[in-house]
Amino acid sequence: MSRKTVIAGNWKMNKTPDEAAALINEMKPAADKAACDVVLCVPYVDLPAAVEAAKGSKISIGAENVHWEESGAFTGEISAPMLNALGVQYAIVGHSERRQYFGETNETVNKRTAAALAHGLTVLLCVGETLEEREKGITFDVIAIQLKVALAGISAEAFKNVIIAYEPVWAIGTGKTATAEQANEVNKFIRDTVAALYGKEAAEETTVQYGGSMNAKNAAELLAKPDVDGGLIGGASLKPADFAVILEAAS
Ligand code: G3P
Repeated sequence: MSRKTVIAGNWKMNKTPDEAAALINEMKPAADKAACDVVLCVPYVDLPAAVEAAKGSKISIGAENVHWEESGAFTGEISAPMLNALGVQYAIVGHSERRQYFGETNETVNKRTAAALAHGLTVLLCVGETLEEREKGITFDVIAIQLKVALAGISAEAFKNVIIAYEPVWAIGTGKTATAEQANEVNKFIRDTVAALYGKEAAEETTVQYGGSMNAKNAAELLAKPDVDGGLIGGASLKPADFAVILEAAS
């Protein structure tokens, strides 16, 4: 299996169901022309409308999180079986905003990853360092721990359905994008860490995205790098014209 390029939008807490359907319909022509995989991860309330709107197009729909239990007293959470029932195919796990605001840990990221994979979802596994960690020179140490704990107990077969997204926290929503060299350096380190865990062949086949203020202006330079296999896009994925430019740059 060859390495895929995947452009995924992370809409975060934006759009009502009607707005989501309208935006997806606007994005379909560009997505259907793209030579990369196209995923839109949308708020839970938008999932049914998004799956319906995306039908017949190249757009796959993802959730922005998923719980590790199949049901129970977990107020506000959503389970993998619920996502399966909606026809959702992807799930973001471990986004820095979940870690920052909602107590997500490497250990809970591991539990969410295992449950999502066990239910046939493709996982967009987010890792990344804070500005303080980068300035301390411990970026690689942080990301190595995030990966090793997140992937504990995940078999080589299951790992085939994991996409890794390097999202430096200091670049998310700030307009301060990592340079293409910085992104590629860390993505290469991620691939080397995967090689140590699952072997060189698996590492070569793994999609490693970059996320953090990727936009219409900088996408081509970032995506031209050998170890950048797509993007996890926040703000620019809510703008059809910008998202179309990114899809073209990834094709
Ligand atoms: O998950 C993607 C997101 O964190 C990046 O957001 O707005 O910097 O593209 P943004």
